[in-house]
Formats: sequence, structure tokens, C-alpha cells
Amino acid sequence: MRLKDRVAIVTGGSRGIGQATAELFAKEGAKVIIWDLLDEGSYVAKGINESGGTAEFLKISITDKDAVEASVADIAKRYGKIDILINNAGITRDKTLVKMSDDEWDAVIAVNLSGVFYATRAVSQVMRENAYGRIVSAASTTGLRGNYGQTNYAATKAGVIGMTKTWATELGKFGITANAIAPGYTQTPMTDAIPDNIRQMALMTIPVGFLADPIDIAYGYLYLASEESRFVSGICLPIDGGYSR
Ligand SMILES: NC(=O)c1ccc[n+]([C@@H]2O[C@H](COP(=O)([O-])OP(=O)(O)OC[C@H]3O[C@@H](n4cnc5c(N)ncnc54)[C@H](O)[C@@H]3O)[C@@H](O)[C@H]2O)c1
Repeated sequence: MRLKDRVAIVTGGSRGIGQATAELFAKEGAKVIIWDLLDEGSYVAKGINESGGTAEFLKISITDKDAVEASVADIAKRYGKIDILINNAGITRDKTLVKMSDDEWDAVIAVNLSGVFYATRAVSQVMRENAYGRIVSAASTTGLRGNYGQTNYAATKAGVIGMTKTWATELGKFGITANAIAPGYTQTPMTDAIPDNIRQMALMTIPVGFLADPIDIAYGYLYLASEESRFVSGICLPIDGGYSR
């Protein structure tokens, strides 16, 4: 088992890529804590526990700084440590630049950028005390290349890459690595709303010729959360079928 007895927080673990990650990490021996707004996370945790793994669901919004800090203190007390933080939760509010409202801008910044900052700031203090940590955050190919209709999302995902490189610099001496992944087009509830013709166009830009399943992305999180990546820090790993080559 690649994560035996590791304590891992997976944000946005109620569905999509986060759910696949929570389930994969539990199979690899981690004790998984799911932070999400959606109650479906309790079913994900139940499923993991019924199949012999260890998981719990906590209804936490990463935009709520006080709730994040209180939950980190509670988890550290109950489990004695936090080894892994998967900053996976994210949202989109797509519009072209001139049509994008302040609310659409603010909402995406609050979750994808400030939420990742709050979670990492709180968890990294526990990791420092234990001289061990793996921080892996969801960027996106949009953060690398931009994307039509995604000014707000691109800003946050490029921001995640910048924060990750900074954390690698600051936290390496405490036994903590910080990395990001940049998923390409993955079939999840986030992308279900995209019209079929746009999906077909996207497919033509992906050299391997298919869209990712959530588990394809979860395997990337697993590598960067495991011991095997101990000499990897400050990178952003594209997992995109060759799209951002
Ligand atoms: N699906 C893709 O094609 C794709 C591509 C590139 C990057 N990503 C990124 O991967 C991550 C996961 O994406 P997904 O497709 O699984 O999305 P999803 O919408 O299916 O799942 C996201 C989860 O995050 C949760 N969440 C949203 N706001 C939250 C908050 N404030 N606090 C806690 N949880 C919150 C949601 O409730 C949901 O369960 C996101 O960061 C996304 O930006 C996805």
C-alpha cells in the first residue's frame, strides 16, 4: 500500500475527481477526510468504510477561513497528524471577458484561489510540526494555456501554480513537498454541462483521442502524495492526453 496510515484531507471529495481520489487513497491505506459542501460526501465516506477503508465526511467550505482552521485543529487532535492535503475543490463561472460579472469573478477567486490558500496555510502548520507533508493542488490546462470564456478560472489556476512553486521553496526544509496537477478535459459533473459540439471540438485537440476519467487524474494525485515522489517539488504535472504539449 502506497499511503499506509497516512492522514489525507481531500477537498471537493464528494464527486468527480475528488471522489475518485478519496476512494483510491483509501484503497492505498490512507485515512481520508473529505471536505465538501455537498452532502453526497457522506455516501462516499460510507462506501469507503464499507469496503474496509477509513474515511469521514466533514461539511466544510474552503472559503470559510474560520471553519477551515477549526477543522484542521480538530483533525490534528483526533488523528495526531495531517500528512497529505489534496486541494481539489474548484468551481467554474464561465463568461467571455466583457460579459463576466464581478460576482462571477469573486466566486471563482474565493474558492479556487483564497480557499486553496486558507486550507494550505492551516494544514502546513501541522505538517511543519510533524516534519512531513505532501500538498497537491488542482491547477488546470487553462492555467497553462488560457481558455475561451475562462478569465476568472485561468487567473486562479495560474495562481495555484505560482503558489505551489512558492510553497515548494518555503516548505521543503520541513520535509514538505508542494506540487500541482493540470488536468485536461475530464468527464465529471463540472464538465457535464458543456454542449456536445464543444465536447467534440475539444476531443479533436487531444492527441490520445479520448477524454479523461476521474481516476486518470486521481493516479496523478496519488503519485505526488506518495513516498515515490519525495524528490519532486514545485512542479505542475499536466494530465491531459497530450493537449498542452
Ligand atoms: N473536470 C475537468 O475537466 C477539470 C479540468 C481541469 C481541472 N479541473 C479541476 O479539478 C478539480 C476537480 O474538478 P471536478 O471536475 O471533479 O469538479 P466537480 O464540480 O465535479 O467537483 C468539485 C467538488 O468541489 C466541491 N466544492 C466546490 N466548492 C467548494 C467549497 N467552497 N468548499 C468545499 N468543496 C467545494 C463541489 O461541491 C464538488 O463536490 C477542480 O479544482 C477543477 O477546477 C477539472
